[in-house]
Parts: sequence; structure tokens; C-alpha cells
Amino acid sequence: MLDKINFEIKERARAVAEEVVRPLASEHDKKQEYPWKVKEALAESGLLKTWIPKEYGGDGLGSVNLCLVVEELSRACGGVGVMFAVNALGSYPIILGGRQDQKEKWLPKIANGEKLISFALSEKLAGSNASDLKTLISKKGEEYIINGDKKWNTNGGVAHYYSVFGVTNPNQVGKPSAISAVIVEKGTDGFEIGKEEDKMGIRCVPVRELYFRNCSVPEWNLLGESEGKGFKIAMETLDHARPGVAAQALGCAQGAFEYASRFASRRRQFGQPIQNHQAIGFLLADMSTRIEAARQLVYESARMIDAADKDPSLKAKANKMAAQGKLFATDTAMWVTTEAVQIFGGYGFMKDYPVEKYMRDAKITQIYEGTNQIQRLVVSRHVAREATSLKFLDQFIPSIDQWIPDELLKEGS
Ligand code: CAA
Repeated sequence: MLDKINFEIKERARAVAEEVVRPLASEHDKKQEYPWKVKEALAESGLLKTWIPKEYGGDGLGSVNLCLVVEELSRACGGVGVMFAVNALGSYPIILGGRQDQKEKWLPKIANGEKLISFALSEKLAGSNASDLKTLISKKGEEYIINGDKKWNTNGGVAHYYSVFGVTNPNQVGKPSAISAVIVEKGTDGFEIGKEEDKMGIRCVPVRELYFRNCSVPEWNLLGESEGKGFKIAMETLDHARPGVAAQALGCAQGAFEYASRFASRRRQFGQPIQNHQAIGFLLADMSTRIEAARQLVYESARMIDAADKDPSLKAKANKMAAQGKLFATDTAMWVTTEAVQIFGGYGFMKDYPVEKYMRDAKITQIYEGTNQIQRLVVSRHVAREATSLKFLDQFIPSIDQWIPDELLKEGS
């Protein structure tokens, strides 16, 4: 694992986090303001190149190093963690599904920080069921005409490019094969940035509605060689992006833990630092242990994503581990950040102190890029498939009524 870690990039991310992100975190949170100064620092430090392949102006450092950067930024501010990572989410559809000429056009400008990008999949009526999209992308001559609304668009309004998913085959609405993806540039006629959400956490990054009314883009903007590839592109993108959400959660947990442990070493009650009371000391021990367990799973899942990019036979394993890492790290973050508030007591509940923000920022990580219920669905499907390879155990399990006959179990499917 250590061989995959670029310690130089970790240090660079930590420097931006401590010099620029942490001092501004509370102000951006209060004002719900996009952190332009942070964005400039990220571009200047070259961190926006991390995940972009070398051929297109990036550093080609893959998922493990993307996670390192997200963790360091989120340790100082969970909102900045996603404000950074959402550019990876938005650009993976191009990296994974785009043609070479499309990559050459869009990726270098994302790598050098000139352009920001976002991912427009969800709709009011299509969240967890991502194939139930209603936005139509209709071919007319040499153009695609887009009609529909998108919901929960992170980076909405500040992004210059939008990876937009919709239905190109209306006869198959509701089916994955109906879906395609196009890139829409900000300022295109018929594309309007809508309502800005007033959020519980990650307040420095905008979440907007997007409206498309007869919005026309060149057919060249369709990702991939043909229509109908959009759902697969979306799913593969989410596999690549979920370790990033997990790293965001990990950073939030680490950041809140550090504040809590420092506070516990200085706050005195009953004549001694509260850390010396077993109730608090053991709680900190459990927090530290769960964070470390999450860290190992997050980085191993990112390593598996990188490995599957080179060896497609590992894709199923990577899909499962990305879901497991996201599930475990985000549930851990919610628990750790809530306990950090508890350790601060009444101070923790107050906005003058930094820990309640970590709790608010952590909550969304259990929800977006696939709720943790969806992560459990993904993992449980793998577990069910993997059970077919455990047939050798049957001889040790006494047969019972209603035993499923061997021929109905699909081996390895
Ligand atoms: N990689 C490649 N292909 C995949 C895949 C993957 N990981 N997962 C599924 N597919 C393919 C399947 O092989 C199948 O292909 P065929 O039709 O050729 O057999 C097809 O896609 C359909 O697969 P499923 O039957 O498994 O699809 P499903 O309808 O049961 O849905 C799901 C699966 C996992 C529930 C999916 O809908 C899902 O991930 N839902 C959650 C959506 C989500 O994460 N949304 C987040 C929005 S983005 C966001 O939150 C951003 C933000 O604000 C920052």
C-alpha cells in the first residue's frame, strides 16, 4: 500500500489545508460562500491535476492519491473536501467514457484549474434509482436537444462544464440502456442554473437545480462512440468517486477527533483533564481505532480501483470495495464527529467552536454518491453472488427442507 502513496502530494495538500482552508472554513460556512481563494490555491499548487491522466495535462496519480488530497483538505474543512473532489466526479465520465478528442478538449483545462466541472445525474424523482431519468436528450440533425431538470447538482453555477445524463431512447425509459451522457458548457442557450439549496453542511460548495429548455449541444458532445452508454459510464464514475467521498468522511472524522482529543487534554473537571476519566479516554481510544480501520479500508478500496483500471478482471472486486469503503468510512465519520461534539459538551453545540461543523459536514457523506442503503445493496448483491463459490461447505451443513437445488444456483454469476 505504502508504495502507492505519494507523500509529497500529501504534504502539499496539508500545506494548502493549514495555510488557506482552515483559517477560512468557518467564514465560508457561515456565509455559504464558494471559497475562490481556496480554489486558486488548489490550482496554483497543482492539486487539481492529481487524477487527470498524464496525456491530458494531469499528474495521472490515480485514486489512492486523490483520496490522500481529499482527506487532508477535509481534515480542515469537509466542504472544501467535496468542493475539490466533485471535479473528479464530474470529469470521470470524460476520462472513462469520452473519446480521445473529447479528452483533449476538456481535461487539460480542468487539470490546470481554468475550468470546473460537475456531475448531473440525479433528478427530483430519480435518486437511488439512477436509471429512472426523465430528462430527454433527443437527436435532431447534428445536435442533441436537452429538456428536463436536474437536482442536487454540486458545483452548480460555479462549474463551467456539466456531465449531463438523460434518456436518448424514450421507448426504453426506466432502463439503463436508454441513458446517454453529454457535456454541456455553461452559457449554452436553454441551460439555466436554478435554485440554490440552503444546506446543513458542506456550505462552501453550491448545490443547485439545473434547468434545460430546448438546450442544444453539438452531437460531438455525446460521450462515447454511440448512444446508450450513459448508465455504465455513470456507474463506473461512481465506483471511482466513492473512495473520494469515503476520504472526505475520513478527513472529517480525523479533524473532529484531533479537536476532541486536544480539548479533552486541556478541559478539567473533577480536578483533572477529562481525558483521564475512563469514560472519555476509552471513547477517544474507540474513535482513534475506528478511524484507523476506516483509513485502511478507504485506501485499500482506492488501490483496488487503480488496480482494476489496469486489469478489468478486478472490476467486480473494486465495485464491492468502493461501496464498502464509502459505507464504513461515512458511518464512522458520523459516529466520530457526533462523539467529538459530546466530548466538547455544551461548547460542542455552539457555533463558536469548530466541532459541530464537522458533524454537519459528515452527514451528507452517508447520503450522496449513493446512500449507504444503496452501498449495502451493492455489497449484498456481491455477497449473494460470492456464496455460490462456497458450495464446498454444503457437506458440513445438514440438509433442510426447501434447500435450493444446485442447478438453480448460478455458479459465479
Ligand atoms: N460498472 C459497470 N456497469 C455497471 C455497474 C458498474 N459499477 N453497475 C451496474 N452496471 C451495469 C450492469 O452490468 C447492467 O448492465 P446490463 O444491463 O448490460 O446487464 C446495468 O448497469 C444495470 O445494472 P443493475 O441491474 O445493477 O442496475 P440497478 O437499476 O439495479 O441499479 C444501483 C444499480 C447500484 C442501485 C444504481 O442505480 C446506483 O448506484 N444508484 C445510486 C445512484 C447514486 O449513487 N447517485 C448519486 C448521484 S451523484 C451525487 O450524489 C453527486 C453529488 O452531489 C456530489
